[in-house]
Amino acid sequence: MKPDVLVIVPLRPDQQKQLEATYTLHRYDLAEDKNAFLAEVGEKIVAVVTNGGRGITRAQLAFLPNLKVVSSSGVGYDAIDVEACTEQGVKATNTPDVLTDDVADMALGLFLAVRRDLVRGDAYVRTGAWGRDGAFPLTRAIKAKKVGIVGLGRIGKAIAARLEPMGVEIAYHGRNEQAGVAYRYMADVVAMAEWADVLIAAMPGGAATEGMISEAVLEALGPEGSFINIARGSVVDEAALIACLKDGRLGSAGLDVFLNEPTPDTAFAAIPNVVLHPHNASGTVETRGAMSQLVLDNLAAYFAGKPLVTPVN
Ligand code: 8YV
Repeated sequence: MKPDVLVIVPLRPDQQKQLEATYTLHRYDLAEDKNAFLAEVGEKIVAVVTNGGRGITRAQLAFLPNLKVVSSSGVGYDAIDVEACTEQGVKATNTPDVLTDDVADMALGLFLAVRRDLVRGDAYVRTGAWGRDGAFPLTRAIKAKKVGIVGLGRIGKAIAARLEPMGVEIAYHGRNEQAGVAYRYMADVVAMAEWADVLIAAMPGGAATEGMISEAVLEALGPEGSFINIARGSVVDEAALIACLKDGRLGSAGLDVFLNEPTPDTAFAAIPNVVLHPHNASGTVETRGAMSQLVLDNLAAYFAGKPLVTPVN
């Protein structure tokens, strides 16, 4: 008999096919009345497939008394109630490493787009403004600028490795100074923002980092400074970010993540000095394929009684 799996997030056709070969799928993502659906199928569910954005809540877990494993696509697990999982004896897994390079590439892309004004430059050509209004305003060089990375984990390090050959000065902030890291450690994030031209958020989401990029941090970064976020919307005081971008206390921003996804604050759309991206840093064919495979591998390991490939708890 195929194990019963609750699917919380929409699946691509190839993912669906792969999962259906081994499991009986119960499509919570397609159910109209979510709670009624959980009440109906909850007892038989032994595994959940979700992602870093949706995760799984304590309230959802309460409907799943026989659940054994949550296999999530995404490195971040702030949306998974890991404490509730552990209490209920449920193992959770994520998909680290396979997405590191793509996410770091997106950070670099946003960094360049923001600092060299690529998006407004594109519009300048498309709209004919170039011919009408003359040369595009000058932008700022990358070389010799100071970049502060908040969260020097796997992704933070991959971002730093991409920045190094560009001749920028790199510092980092995190809970602790890391042994064997040549970059300058700054224990105070406001002080790092004051020092930096560009601040890149690459830390995990969740309670520990909520609002860490505060109004004070954004003001310290200043009118010539840029903020790049490929972490989570929750790490920044978004209302302050919008206000600072609008009134010039912060120069510019490049954002892949927002507080309310997929319908972020509509104020962003009217702010010219921000480059927006729809939380898609890991969204390449190659990496989503690898993430999808890891979701399957973790499930397979669980049902084969083998150690999980990438456990969270
Ligand atoms: C995904 C992410 O977009 O890895 C993460 O934590 O945020 C992204 O890779 C998300 O998990 C949806 O799959």
